[in-house]
Amino acid sequence: MKTYLQHHPWQIIEEGFHPEYQEVSESICSLGNGRFGLRGNFEEGYSGKTLQGSYFAGVYYPDKTRVGWWKNGYPEYFAKVLNGVNWIGMHIRIGDQLLDLASMEVYNFRRVLNMKLGILSRSFTVHPTEGGQLDFHFERFCSMDNADTAAIRVHIQSKGYHGMLRLESFLDFDVHNKDSNYGEQFWERKAETLEEQFAMVAATTKKTAFTVSSAMHTHVTRNGDDLTPDSVLAPMKVNQIFETMMHEGDVILLHKYVVNLSSLNIASDQQEISGRKKLATARHAGYESLKENHIAAWQRIWDSADIEIDGNVMAQQGLRFNIFQLWQTYTGEDARLNIGPKGFTGEKYGGSTYWDTEAYCIPFYLGTADARIARNLLVYRYLHLPKAIENAAKLGFTDGAALYPMVTINGEECHNEWEITFEEIHRNGAMVYAIYDYIRYTGDAAYMNEGGLEVLIAVARFWAQRVNYSEPKQAWVMLGVTGPNEYENNVNNNWYTNYIARWCMEYAMEQIEIARTQYPVDWERIREKTDFTAQEVDDWRLKSEGMYFPRDETRQLFLQQDGFLDKELMLVSDLAQEHRPIHQKWSWDRILRSCFIKQADVLQGMYFFEDHFELDTIARHFDFYEPMTVHESSLSPCVHAILAARLGKIEKADEMYLRTSRLDLDDYNNDTEDGLHITSMAGTWMAVVRGFAGVRVKDGTLHIAPVLPAGWKGFRFKMHFRGRFLGIDISGEHCTVRRLTGETLDIVVNRERMTV
Ligand code: BGC
Repeated sequence: MKTYLQHHPWQIIEEGFHPEYQEVSESICSLGNGRFGLRGNFEEGYSGKTLQGSYFAGVYYPDKTRVGWWKNGYPEYFAKVLNGVNWIGMHIRIGDQLLDLASMEVYNFRRVLNMKLGILSRSFTVHPTEGGQLDFHFERFCSMDNADTAAIRVHIQSKGYHGMLRLESFLDFDVHNKDSNYGEQFWERKAETLEEQFAMVAATTKKTAFTVSSAMHTHVTRNGDDLTPDSVLAPMKVNQIFETMMHEGDVILLHKYVVNLSSLNIASDQQEISGRKKLATARHAGYESLKENHIAAWQRIWDSADIEIDGNVMAQQGLRFNIFQLWQTYTGEDARLNIGPKGFTGEKYGGSTYWDTEAYCIPFYLGTADARIARNLLVYRYLHLPKAIENAAKLGFTDGAALYPMVTINGEECHNEWEITFEEIHRNGAMVYAIYDYIRYTGDAAYMNEGGLEVLIAVARFWAQRVNYSEPKQAWVMLGVTGPNEYENNVNNNWYTNYIARWCMEYAMEQIEIARTQYPVDWERIREKTDFTAQEVDDWRLKSEGMYFPRDETRQLFLQQDGFLDKELMLVSDLAQEHRPIHQKWSWDRILRSCFIKQADVLQGMYFFEDHFELDTIARHFDFYEPMTVHESSLSPCVHAILAARLGKIEKADEMYLRTSRLDLDDYNNDTEDGLHITSMAGTWMAVVRGFAGVRVKDGTLHIAPVLPAGWKGFRFKMHFRGRFLGIDISGEHCTVRRLTGETLDIVVNRERMTV
């Protein structure tokens, strides 16, 4: 755990340079605008430990699978999120010295990520060998108002420094992915253009043929007078160089305007024309006006997505950081895009879509944005249904059964580890759960016949084929799976997987019946399209009614999987700190044999299907499983926070909340340097809204049952629900719900029905 960042409600502040955590800070200071984003790398470069990263939404490379033992059914490739053009680049020479904070003494260092404004800034002082000092201030943003544009401002002042200063403002496409399987460069050179007012570099991805181009205009003044650049061009790199003498008090002001375009939005042969136009618009608008519009766009997001907490700055900072990073990653404008677990903050994980989107992110977007955005996310999966059917067919399933991929970018599976690719099939259930969640939240039941039901049928078919009958158990069993807890592989009868499989079959049967009886025309179309036969329902009924669930009668517990109680049961509290995180300290063999749980598994099921269980049943399972849970998946603490709040374990809920909300800021799992845990950030929002505010939807009605963690005086947020926009204010004993837009609404607050 790291505590070098200061607490502030709207800002992340690093006071004094911490080179030992530079990669962590780079992740935390990532910026993005839904179209592109980058890590908090230094403009001038850094010769110390750093992960240079600049990413473009939807642009990927299918890196040929690399495994020791090839198994049939493996995907051919792993879709890599590509490290793209370095567009912030700016080498700075002071006399003979290259500005490099890894090799120079740095004074008065301060780095601030201002989340309210969406701006990253950094200031520091260096003492050149020639004497005197130079004060630097950098500021940059990726425009939320105009998603192709970004801008950087650098202010340099001499305090007693007399000598040369050379600024090399560049765009560099000669970049590599650190995680490339074969050390290959994924980009091919396409074009470079270099003029005094305009520089551009473009490259195309190998195999996938995406073209990305970056155009820049750099404007530099010394004491208000323009400097003229020299231009240098190299393959995949364009450079505008400004050189001047500096004297006491001289001020250099640099503005770099950047336009980044990808062929997802602008055809590659149009990018230069478009880049010129957009760059000219940005330049003429000027830095301050671009910045103003960018800040106004963030203000609009905060107006509906913010949650204000009274009385706990740490909790507040963590929460806003999570909301900020999610909106930087995905703005919901483009149905081809999704929310990658690392967003624009690192390479690890590849692909862009995991079950995280359905299980965690959809509730966040349902609450904080128009229903259109969550619907887009459902449509994304609907469009991938044919690929999911192909994917299941590759593994031997037939008749339109679908297995959605664990990791994907275009609908094809691209995860390369057998225990996850083939076995972590519970993800299929999340696809269906998201449809259920969306419809109950928005009331948009029409979605079922517009796509939802086809997904339900294909997934139910998969489960019906995946189970087999066990004579000894006289029940339908599911063998060889990995549950959400990835610290167990190839287990039999993972309770969560069996539970969600049964529910999927039941839900499909129920919805088919509704379609058949209430929407016969739609049903006829769907029936024909899916080749559905009435016997299928008999099969699903048989299997769902006869599904096996591992259980211990003495303890009155559902078991995570067959044989769970054979393990040596230990508590995480008995595990010495030096053993944690266990995935970094222990062999895989030791992890698999241990009882320790990576993330909610049985409890994930109880969280999804809370209404299916008595409260004391949930409490019993929480008390048994949580103490063995190491929460080494970022998706873990939020689910536990919500359940703990529901169970009245407020202290536990608070502990879990802090862990989910400050996971990256405090680097709980010692892996923030690889990038942020973007998808689990939605869990932080859920921990407050579903956890502390106790928001639920039951039979189409909104329920609120707030609790306040110690130290919180209150909290308030806004929320979309069924065409209304509500303001919810929880202060001490009081809960106020305001209807900000939309028609009157009946709600239930602390079991009392009322009208807003
Ligand atoms: C978790 C998965 C999750 C993935 C991406 C893994 O560590 O165990 O449940 O889908 O990360 O966030």
